[in-house]
Amino acid sequence: MNKMLAVCTTIDGTPELRQVDVPKIRPEEMLVKVIAAAQNPAEWVVAEWRKGKETAIIGCDFAGIVTQVGEAVTDFKIGERVAGMVHGCKELNGTYAEYVAALPYMTFKIPSSWSLEDASQLGVACYTACQCLYQSQDLPLPEHPTSEPFDILIWGAGSSVGHFTVQLAKLGGMRVIATASTKHFDRLKALGIDELFDYHDPDVNEKIKACTNGNLHHAVDCIANETTPKLISNALSTEGGTVSVVRDVESVRDEVKHVFSLAYELTERPFDFPWDYIPKPGMAAFARKCSEMISKLLNEGKLVPAPLKIYPNGFASVSEGFTYMKSGLVSGEKIVYRVEDTPGLQN
Ligand SMILES: NC(=O)c1ccc[n+]([C@@H]2O[C@H](COP(=O)([O-])OP(=O)(O)OC[C@H]3O[C@@H](n4cnc5c(N)ncnc54)[C@H](OP(=O)(O)O)[C@@H]3O)[C@@H](O)[C@H]2O)c1
Repeated sequence: MNKMLAVCTTIDGTPELRQVDVPKIRPEEMLVKVIAAAQNPAEWVVAEWRKGKETAIIGCDFAGIVTQVGEAVTDFKIGERVAGMVHGCKELNGTYAEYVAALPYMTFKIPSSWSLEDASQLGVACYTACQCLYQSQDLPLPEHPTSEPFDILIWGAGSSVGHFTVQLAKLGGMRVIATASTKHFDRLKALGIDELFDYHDPDVNEKIKACTNGNLHHAVDCIANETTPKLISNALSTEGGTVSVVRDVESVRDEVKHVFSLAYELTERPFDFPWDYIPKPGMAAFARKCSEMISKLLNEGKLVPAPLKIYPNGFASVSEGFTYMKSGLVSGEKIVYRVEDTPGLQN
């Protein structure tokens, strides 16, 4: 088991299935046999950015089985079902591969009630949701729900990040007001969202303002495009408030603070995209707390997955998946590749 198939970056930016070495783990890492890997918008963005640069394996989200643990790993065992996130598309380690070297502090334990296909969507989406709720703002955790419920607006509940942000916010005892397309309303209402609004409605921010009596101080912008900062800022109270954002956006009201976080930072390792980043202490410890919390919630049956869109040819379908996502067609679904569906597997 020295060689494996992996989807790699190329000179022209097109993802390519290649034979590469199985990654060697460091003492603090573990080797996971990938069963399924999910797709995030960053996957195609970074693969294109790496055009002409050193080859890297694409993919951040994984679910699989632990096959080897480094000597410093104490909390995982060989044979355990796991899912999580690595910083893909950076080096010859990524999740669009038969094996990935994973960090225990960025890995969840997956109960038998969750399929590994469903579990592959958890990594980036759950860590980002945790950063937005507990790092960018100090909002109540599921283990200590607030006894005095207050309103939070979650913009883009139909997105992958939004799907888990609304569930964690509800578990924290908050009154969740959210936006999405009406076609997702039934599925999202089943997550316990208190008030849902169509983001296409031209009066959406006025309606949110009315339903919160002009008293909204907290929001998470799971979309952060050219329109959402203004819409959200205008829905907040006259005193302003805080908005956690998934992309670095300009503030549009002085009284409204935008706090950006990036899931890659939780690896506590340096990176060079979207900027040169020097690790900040405490990130891995925060990630470990999130991993333990999510593992516990999964085990207690308190989180539900979003619908999947599974491509038929595993990693051989990645170019097709990238084209679909780049065209803006992803709608309330998570793209997932099952490794066993890939033609020409090595192991
Ligand atoms: N900072 C980080 O570390 C981090 C981590 C993960 C993701 N992100 C970023 O977060 C964003 C979301 O990522 P994702 O994976 O969650 O996305 P996703 O699931 O692919 O998002 C697609 C969904 O977003 C909805 N949507 C699009 N525009 C919207 C709008 N203006 N208002 C409300 N909903 C809207 C779409 O709704 P319809 O169904 O109506 O089309 C669709 O359901 C991306 O920009 C991504 O790059 C950042």
